[in-house]
Amino acid sequence: MDKPHRAMPDIEVLPAHFPIPGMGFLPVNAFVIKAREPVLVDTGMGIDSEEFMKALESIIDPQDLRWIWITHDDVDHTGNLQKVLEAAPSARLAANSLAVLRMSTAWSVPMHRVYWLNSGDSISVGDRKLTAVRPPLFDNPTTIGVYDNKSEAFFSADFFGAIIPSPAQNADDVTEGDLAKGMISWASADSPWVHMVNPGGFMKALDRIRQIGPEMIFSAHLPPARGRTEQLLELLAEVPTSTPFVTPDQTALEQIMAQMGSGR
Ligand SMILES: [Fe+2]
Ligand SMILES: [Fe+2]
Repeated sequence: MDKPHRAMPDIEVLPAHFPIPGMGFLPVNAFVIKAREPVLVDTGMGIDSEEFMKALESIIDPQDLRWIWITHDDVDHTGNLQKVLEAAPSARLAANSLAVLRMSTAWSVPMHRVYWLNSGDSISVGDRKLTAVRPPLFDNPTTIGVYDNKSEAFFSADFFGAIIPSPAQNADDVTEGDLAKGMISWASADSPWVHMVNPGGFMKALDRIRQIGPEMIFSAHLPPARGRTEQLLELLAEVPTSTPFVTPDQTALEQIMAQMGSGR
């Protein structure tokens, strides 16, 4: 994991970077919203378990958390969920019902602590309203991002993600060219169905985010991006007609393994 940092006066980032061989790094972020009822958005990767809990404790006493919002039940978002639920006995688990049911096939989710949300539903966390928003791109049907009306920040789950050449603390630290290339590759790889959709319908989904007009984008897979929503939406409008991403095959794996072997 990387060092946690404050991206807005009341929003802290718990950043990590996952290496993608031959391509770069995928940021994997969780966030703490220091609302009157503090909220953790996603719980990082299980591989970082110890570091993640330490990083979280450096930002907030987990006992003070009142909400754990899981944007979807993919393992890069739920890696430390059980640990956090134990450490944060006063926190409720906000998630889509299907995410909770899917997780229940692997472990006993404490249902009395669960709060089910559909896109459009809101919860009050004392000093602000958090609204569930299904992003235009997602790799899991349970996905709900979070719009925070106080900070005008959109926690967009996998949407707005990008594979970047090297870890960065802010989206502004990545060159425009690298950002465009990395974002289109990620969108195509993570949501391959985007190439089957009617571009007009996809534009309407992008427009819904445009209408919300978040000032700050907190993607799980992009360094924080301030004041760039319109630019990034325009970039993503090209995805349905872009060249589909082809995942690496066995030949690529053998090359990667040979390179790793030669580096030993
Ligand atoms: Fe995902
Ligand atoms: Fe993800």
